[in-house]
Amino acid sequence: MKSFAEIAAEIARESGAVISEFARRRIGFELKGAHDLVTEADRASEQLIVERLHQQFPTHAIVAEEGGGNDGSSEYCWYVDPLDGTTNFAHGFPVYNVSLGLERSGEIVAGVIYDPTRDEMFQAELGSGAFLNGEPIHVTPTARIDDSLSATGFPSRKRHQNINVHFYYQLAMMSHGVRRAGAAALDLAYVACGRLDFFWEFALKPWDVAAGSLLVREAGGRCTDMLGAPLNLRGAHILADNTALHGDVLELFGEIFAGRQRVPLPQ
Ligand code: IPD
Ligand code: CA
Ligand code: CA
Repeated sequence: MKSFAEIAAEIARESGAVISEFARRRIGFELKGAHDLVTEADRASEQLIVERLHQQFPTHAIVAEEGGGNDGSSEYCWYVDPLDGTTNFAHGFPVYNVSLGLERSGEIVAGVIYDPTRDEMFQAELGSGAFLNGEPIHVTPTARIDDSLSATGFPSRKRHQNINVHFYYQLAMMSHGVRRAGAAALDLAYVACGRLDFFWEFALKPWDVAAGSLLVREAGGRCTDMLGAPLNLRGAHILADNTALHGDVLELFGEIFAGRQRVPLPQ
């Protein structure tokens, strides 16, 4: 019998092919808000994923970003981001993915993140490790913020109310760099496979972080909020790191939340 992650991987690969076909056609986009885009590809991918999940698991609930999900009668719930990185996709910037995470009674038990542009499948099941195209992956051993490469993002909605630019500035000044590639699920997958040392962001949704948080933990990393509290998929912020940096990053974030700057602003 196939595992949840194996079935999810097959579905994500199929929806990745749909997205790639739209990418070849360079389709347009609509605006959900001032800077919040949606495309035909988001909707087509979601429809396919929801149909497939429902065929395979008729009693499971599905929460999907574009609203195509359904209520279920079992304790299982899928969080579906049918196209994470829509702004990138709409501009032809090849950094986007499909993310499927499965929660059972409040705990994420399976997750896949598929990048169709690189044909990279990140996959994890609770207690069984994390994999990239079938090979085990692990977080980095980086132990100093100064030596780190990290990532963050900025929300599409209410961006003007977001304080992340202060965190971005501090980290950009004191480390090897901060990437803002525009696909949160992939950022999490990259922490899991050691391409990044840590990732943080405000105002993400359950479908952005469900699969990725499991991948990071199964690869030896930690996922909490930015104050060190247990991760809540509907919480205000997330920190995902390689474990070695957890304490130092939390200490730094505590200072920034308190309004203190280690690196002063340029005069
Ligand atoms: C967005 C991306 C982006 C992040 C935004 C998300 P979407 O997801 O993950 O990196 O900064 O906060 O909303 O809308 O492209 O699925
Ligand atoms: Ca999306
Ligand atoms: Ca997303």
